[in-house]
Formats: sequence, C-alpha cells, structure tokens
Amino acid sequence: MADTYNEAFSRAGAKFLRGAALASETGLIPYKSEEGRWIPSPYDGNSWWTGGFWPGLMWQFYAADRDGRWLKEARRAGALLTAEFRTFRFLNHDVGFIYLLSAGADWKLTGDEQARQDCLHAASLLMGRFNPAGFIRAWNGPDQAGLAIIDCMMNLSLLFWASRQTGDPRFAQVARIHADTTLREFLRPDGSVSHIIEFDPETGKRVRELPGQGYALGSSWSRGQAWGLYGFTLANINTGDARYLEAAEKIAANFIRHIRPDGLTDCDFAQPADEERIDNIAGAVAACGLMELEKLTGKAAYREAALRLVDGLLASCDWSEARCGLLTKCTASYHDDGAGRHTNITYGDYFLMEALAKLRGSDPMLWR
Ligand code: GLY
Repeated sequence: MADTYNEAFSRAGAKFLRGAALASETGLIPYKSEEGRWIPSPYDGNSWWTGGFWPGLMWQFYAADRDGRWLKEARRAGALLTAEFRTFRFLNHDVGFIYLLSAGADWKLTGDEQARQDCLHAASLLMGRFNPAGFIRAWNGPDQAGLAIIDCMMNLSLLFWASRQTGDPRFAQVARIHADTTLREFLRPDGSVSHIIEFDPETGKRVRELPGQGYALGSSWSRGQAWGLYGFTLANINTGDARYLEAAEKIAANFIRHIRPDGLTDCDFAQPADEERIDNIAGAVAACGLMELEKLTGKAAYREAALRLVDGLLASCDWSEARCGLLTKCTASYHDDGAGRHTNITYGDYFLMEALAKLRGSDPMLWR
C-alpha cells in the first residue's frame, strides 16, 4: 500500500516539474489550472493568502529528492512573495500560510539566513495584528477590526516558530492568547467550529458569528473544520497544552463522521442533501492533520480515516497532460464561485502532496 502512495508522489513530481517550467516561463504564481494553463490568484495579486502554496509544493518535492529545479522555482516564487512586504496593504493574518511555506521552508531546507530574516519579518507583521483585547485581527477592511477566523489557527505556527528562533516569548504568548480565544468562542459542543466571529475591538467581547465561506450562518464549512483540526493539532505540538489536543480530537471526531463513502468531503457538512458540492481541499488538509494526530495519540483510527481521505483524493486527480495541476473538485467557497468551484486549486495540490509526503516519510513539516 505504501508503494501506491510513493508512486503517486513520484508521478505527481513528474507532472509538477513540467508545471514548474511553465510557471517560470509565464512569471506568475499558480493559483489554479484550467485547460493546460496556470491561472494566477483572482484577488490581491501575490499578496493573496494562497501565494505560499506553490513554492511550498516545490519545497515538498525538493525535500524528497534535492533536485535543484525545485529549489530554483521555489525561490523564484519566494522572491515575488517577499516583494509583497513593500506592497504591504494587502497582507493580512495569512502571512503565516504565505511565508512559512516559502521563506520558512527555504530556511528549514537550506539554512539560508536571508530566508530566516524574511520569515521573522512576516512573524512581526502577524504580531502587529494582535489586538490585546484577545485576538488576532484577520482582515484589513474598515469594518473588519473585530473579525477573527478559524483559519488563523494555521497561521499561529509562524509565531511559535519565531519565539523559538528569537528566544522572545512574546510571539508564543500572543499565539496562545489567540488559540485560547478560538477554543472558547469557535468550538461548538458537537465538535464543529465557526468560521468567523466578530469581537468588539475595544473590549474583546463577542458580538456575533458571521456567515463565511460555508453554506449558511451556523453551518459547518468543511475547510474551516479542517483548519481547526490541523490548527489545534499544531498548537498542541507547539505548546504541549492538552486542551488543544482535546479540541483537535473533538473536531476530528466530527470530521470523520462526515467523510463521504467515496472518501470525498462535502463543502459544508450542513449543505442540502441534493446539492453536489465537494471541496477536496478540506479532505487534503484534514488528512494531514489526522496523520499528525495519530503520531500524537497513537490512535490507529486517525490514520485509517486519513487513508480513506487520501484514497478518495487520489481517485479525484487529473493525471492527464491537458491540465497543469492535479487535484480536482476543489471549491474555494460555497457561494462565491469567483475563486474556483469543482476545479483544480494549487493549495489542494499542496496539501495532497504533504499528505503523501507524510505517508512516504519525506515531509519536512513546514508548519513548525
Ligand atoms: N484561508 C481561506 C480559505 O481557506 O479559503
């Protein structure tokens, strides 16, 4: 069985080497692929939250075989991302996603000092978003000063990393305050999590839950569930705090209950039964989180669930040369098709490769 995953990783590598040459020729950072073309992110240029996944994908392959072609393409994209420090106005809490998988990965795999400095720069930007009333501000809009979102649990890893690098506890302290707020305000009794909570930015008091990228207010957007699952798992890895592990296991139990018989993941666990809307990215993120949970707890059920997801994802791949990317049926948001619905999206490919890398033992664990 391990051979199947190893083989899928190698086959994907051959496909992404061709894709890397094409991306480099066009000079863009791939966001998704359609009809043999890479398409850049639909919003905010290279500052959009997804910019790090393409270099992250390159670093996953570099970690596996040290082929310099991956390094070259990862650094080409990485340079476009560090150039966004100057643009600044579009960067938000997702600097964790962006720079852990680009500059952070470069430092981790090559020891490049400038890459370490770039990653610390990103961590300082994330610190600058902390509201001492108890949360990290997600977005930049004039009406968004009080908004925090579940996705931020993944970004916290950048802060834990920065504390270890600098010996300065403030980064990790802020990450823990935000994680505690998320634990208190986002986790529901059934193990599902909210996507967006609005706080009063002066007092930190909860104002309300807002509908996000899922089906409806109060529903369970599956990618948000996956961010919570993997994010709390990482928070436990970073701190050893048992409350975060307990939260991750609760979210995992709910996620596992909702895996479809074909191993795919609905876009929202509360979506109408007659609507066929899949988000394979959620399944790929959850598979990664579940494999880390298995390592932490020794519970085989997490690995079994992860394998069900990975098998469903591999059956959803487009291996043809007609398309640059691999994983299909990725859906950015339940109601807004502008960023992609049932198509290939690069961050789905990233998490699928991370999952395969975990299975074959080459994952460099870029989230810490
Ligand atoms: N972090 C935004 C998303 O998952 O779409």
